[in-house]
Amino acid sequence: MGRLKLDYTHALSDLVGPEHGVTPQELDSLAVSARETIRAVQARRTKDLRWLDLPYQTEVHEQVLDYAARVAGRFQNVVVLGIGGSALGTIALQQALNSPYHNIGARGALPRLFVLDNIDPDLIGEFLDQFDPSESLFNVISKSGTTAETMAQFLVFREKLIERLGREGHADHVCVTTDEKRGVLREIAARECYESFGVPDGVGGRYSVLSPVGLVPLALAGIDIKGVLNGAAEMDQVCRAESFFDNPALVYAALQWLMQSKKHRPISVTFAYSQRLALLADWYAQLLAESLGKRKSRTGADVFVGPTPVRALGVTDQHSQMQLYTEGPFDKWFTILSVDRPDYSVTIPSAFDELEAVGYLGGRTLGELFQAERDGARVALTAARRPSVTFNFPQVDPHSVGQYVQCLEVAVACMGEHYDVDAFDQPGVEAGKVAAYALMGRKGYEQEAERLRQEAARARAIV
Ligand code: PA5
Repeated sequence: MGRLKLDYTHALSDLVGPEHGVTPQELDSLAVSARETIRAVQARRTKDLRWLDLPYQTEVHEQVLDYAARVAGRFQNVVVLGIGGSALGTIALQQALNSPYHNIGARGALPRLFVLDNIDPDLIGEFLDQFDPSESLFNVISKSGTTAETMAQFLVFREKLIERLGREGHADHVCVTTDEKRGVLREIAARECYESFGVPDGVGGRYSVLSPVGLVPLALAGIDIKGVLNGAAEMDQVCRAESFFDNPALVYAALQWLMQSKKHRPISVTFAYSQRLALLADWYAQLLAESLGKRKSRTGADVFVGPTPVRALGVTDQHSQMQLYTEGPFDKWFTILSVDRPDYSVTIPSAFDELEAVGYLGGRTLGELFQAERDGARVALTAARRPSVTFNFPQVDPHSVGQYVQCLEVAVACMGEHYDVDAFDQPGVEAGKVAAYALMGRKGYEQEAERLRQEAARARAIV
């Protein structure tokens, strides 16, 4: 089984110039501070960064697989009710590791997997129109157990289940993943006798895909979670290396920091040259934004830092974003996701040989064209002095995807050291939650509700 590799050649000053790329001196000085960075992260692995050890929780993995085996064949649909870190990892790994057509067509033993990570009534209403709740298993996922969106979804679907199956009958159709001991969802699970899994302490939402948060729905949808965890464990060993050039997480973290702080590139574009890897860019966008987008440094000073993640898909976005990427402002750097061996080989038939603009395609494969376009895009970015790195996946399989997830999580933890921010909290999302509670009339938020009423009364800019 091959290893995921990080190629940073095209981020170096040799290729994109010293103003835009990393000079040998900069690389050397990053290498010197690397030991401190990785030591600081690894020292927390048995304390508050328990997510680092998720690939080794074999007892939990067996519990998940045992549950998946017990309910196999019983449900047409597995429906995740969750949001943010409780949803994005599952969405990304489902796209990467199941067929793109998994949810379409006749069901065998494997259920469809839907992740309803929004409360738009059109999304939920349409689901209720299309699918029978009594043929579905609802995995309610919320570490805190208090997220309004997830709890609202839960209440909607629970009532539908009870209407169909009765109070007692509905319980088999709900599985809860929440804090191991605390919270209202844990209490509800116990009261209603729902199957339940725990999110351990030291595992924050966006670092939780390798906990039951991701493992339960992925196992239910037939994904080889052991393969994912083995890949993550292998990468975890690699990412313990204190020597900079042996540790892809350290290199990637240092480049991210350097690109923003020294090369004035606040935008980090993940350019996936793989349909299957496309949503890993969404997962990473949350990991990066929520972890590093911070007002305060760790010593409490106002710093207002953080990269802006952008997701792009090759080749689709070559016909949409590429013009901006090569000729627009010098404010971006690029991470290309590349796959050496796709699963399928599709030959382009020869036809219209006499028409040169089409004829040259005949006899080649779609894979060759895809790779040529990917390499062409990298060449174009480099020629335009836009630095890029490439993660090379030997192929898209559970092992390499597990490696990628672990590598990027460690990298973002290391970025927290460079940016000197707490990469594991998210105080900035609180204000929106408080306002929503107040607008929904939640007890204890009356003052905020009054403030919002006064603010609304001052609104003028409506035409
Ligand atoms: O990364 C995070 O911590 C957040 O994105 C959470 O996952 C998200 O807010 C959902 O929280 P919870 O799992 O508590 O419902």
